[in-house]
Amino acid sequence: MTESKIRLYYKNVTADVIGAEHGITAAQFGDLAAETGPLIAELNQQRAAGQTAYRDLPYNENYPADVKQLVEELGGRCENFVVLGIGGSALGNIALQTALNPYMYNLDDAQRNGRPRLFVFDNVDPVPFGSFLDWVGDKLDKTIFNVISKSGRTIETAAQFMIIRKLLLDKLGPGGLRNQVIATTDKNEGTLRSISDEAGFRTLVVPDGVGGRFSVLSDVGLFSAAMCGIDIDSLLAGARDMDERVSCEDFYKNPAAIIAAINWHYYNHGKKISVMMPYSYALKDFADWYRQLWAESLGKARDLKGKPVNVGPTPVKALGATDQHSQVQLYREGPNDKLFTFLQVENFNRELKTGPAPAPELGYLADKDLGVLYNSEKKATEYALLESKRPCLTVTFPEVNAYTVGEFIYLFEVATSIAGLLFKVNAYDQPAVELGKEATFALMGAGGEEYEELAKQIRSLTEVDKKFLV
Ligand code: PA5
Repeated sequence: MTESKIRLYYKNVTADVIGAEHGITAAQFGDLAAETGPLIAELNQQRAAGQTAYRDLPYNENYPADVKQLVEELGGRCENFVVLGIGGSALGNIALQTALNPYMYNLDDAQRNGRPRLFVFDNVDPVPFGSFLDWVGDKLDKTIFNVISKSGRTIETAAQFMIIRKLLLDKLGPGGLRNQVIATTDKNEGTLRSISDEAGFRTLVVPDGVGGRFSVLSDVGLFSAAMCGIDIDSLLAGARDMDERVSCEDFYKNPAAIIAAINWHYYNHGKKISVMMPYSYALKDFADWYRQLWAESLGKARDLKGKPVNVGPTPVKALGATDQHSQVQLYREGPNDKLFTFLQVENFNRELKTGPAPAPELGYLADKDLGVLYNSEKKATEYALLESKRPCLTVTFPEVNAYTVGEFIYLFEVATSIAGLLFKVNAYDQPAVELGKEATFALMGAGGEEYEELAKQIRSLTEVDKKFLV
């Protein structure tokens, strides 16, 4: 029987494997343990002081209870479930769905087994959204729209919601609007809260003190998951069990601390790029989720004391084996400036044999299992990278299920917090995203002198100079 826990394997970053120039020596590991150990304790203290609210999400009994009640209520009348959100209000939802539901889920009634189709819109490109609206127009009474936004002012989500609102009002009237929209937003304040209260929407909660990118284990991620039949109890149980492992103050027993410390070490030794490469289609969108978590949390202009640092590892997502035929040439022979984190699955729970060989050259591939081939490709790529002295970590999933995915989410959230302490930055804010948001408000005509002045500045800076246009 395979063990139920995910595991981190880190031998392939050591000097023993890739040499002292690129690998971490035993002495350096000792230094990392000495540096990181106290930070695990510091993070545990921050948690006790209520400063890292996301840590307690897996223990909250209200969120899964509220979500289950709504799922039961909506039951048979929901054929399509649509999430409108962006960033932390969408990436976790997408990742959970890709990981835990079948590839053909939306297209095959049998594989969906009575659950609604899921669509997540996290962009304002009119083309895909327009195509969706063309399709959904005559199915609105069987479609639930879950608008997710802490503030309600996020322009992409607000714009999408306004389109849906008008459509529902036009086609189903105020009662239809009220029935088909469920908002996930701040408990007490914000634009979406007041819109919801006025329209009489049912609501779920974006918890206080939890940033979007740390919110997937709250109502934000749980609702769409439960609607689509994902076992949210196991998801939360996996997160709780990982909590025990990542709270451990012994560095060598704490996988989150080891991930954070290795990333930090390499950042300080010329490897500022961190590639996450799942060898599992199911996990591919978790590489996307990780990219936001890592980038928004660690990419900061100033340290905790306000000193300019412009720090932050660059997270990159890749997918095995697809990117072997796209990126691995660069990864092996280009600059040795990356740390690789593979995600590997031991048991795919699906045996698919190739069948007989149609040509003698393919004889070696006759009757081979695709899962075995996939994992051999992972090993082969890792071997090739190690030959080129590139450091590699592997997180192994015994299988991809709600429990192991819950473990993974919690592992990387806590690794991000510990990395924040190592980099000495605030891992929970995102000041740099704000200027772009404000600039878009200004360009779209948000009122007030301040915005008018900003719009003028933007136009003069971005006006096309024909001299440079070819
Ligand atoms: O991680 C974050 O905090 C962001 O990605 C937010 O989730 C994103 O900007 C959406 O914000 P809001 O929930 O206010 O619409």
